[in-house]
Amino acid sequence: MTTIRHELNADIGAREALLDQVFGRNRRRKTSERLRADRLPADGLSFVAVDGNRVVGTARLWNIACGSGQPALLLGPVAVEPSCRNRGIGAALVRRAITDARRLGHQAVILVGGPPYYSRFGFTAEKTAAVRLPGPVERHRLLAIELVPGTLNGARGMISATGRMQAMPESRAA
Ligand SMILES: CC(C)(COP(=O)(O)OP(=O)(O)OC[C@H]1O[C@@H](n2cnc3c(N)ncnc32)[C@H](O)[C@@H]1OP(=O)(O)O)[C@@H](O)C(=O)NCCC(=O)NCCS
Repeated sequence: MTTIRHELNADIGAREALLDQVFGRNRRRKTSERLRADRLPADGLSFVAVDGNRVVGTARLWNIACGSGQPALLLGPVAVEPSCRNRGIGAALVRRAITDARRLGHQAVILVGGPPYYSRFGFTAEKTAAVRLPGPVERHRLLAIELVPGTLNGARGMISATGRMQAMPESRAA
């Protein structure tokens, strides 16, 4: 049986291997990675899907803010091991991330992803037309969901990372 739980330090190796498998070794070149590099994820908002002892899925949320000031969370990467897909694991990860973000008082979640998948959770490009990311992104894939209605009204400008820095940034680690 697959369960969703908070990510533990002991999961990190398996999670990295899963991300390499799903997105390839160049995954750190993605634009959204610029908002995650050398940062810690938002407190209490990193999740894994486990099947027995095996990590088969991951989702994290990151603290960001729009140029116009609205605080939000960035969702991603979301990934499920290829042999475990189409069993609802991705949906369970996204729903858990949204539920816990709301419970912790966050106001909006933004992501870069396919509308055909993320629209089922309520993500749309309606409020993201005037915001930018620090790199290239296909506009129709820049999506958001408001956890507090109206939070992203007037959102514009460059999105920046606002999360805590890692003590030992991976970019500088040996
Ligand atoms: C996207 C991903 C996380 C979904 O995980 P999953 O556990 O298979 O998802 P679920 O079982 O909850 O949902 C499966 C449904 O999503 C659909 N789906 C999966 N990936 C999709 C995509 N990129 N675009 C549109 N629909 C997609 C499936 O066709 C299926 O549709 P159905 O419910 O109508 O049968 C997984 O496919 C993955 O890791 N993909 C590679 C990483 C990736 O592309 N991430 C970004 C997604 S835009």
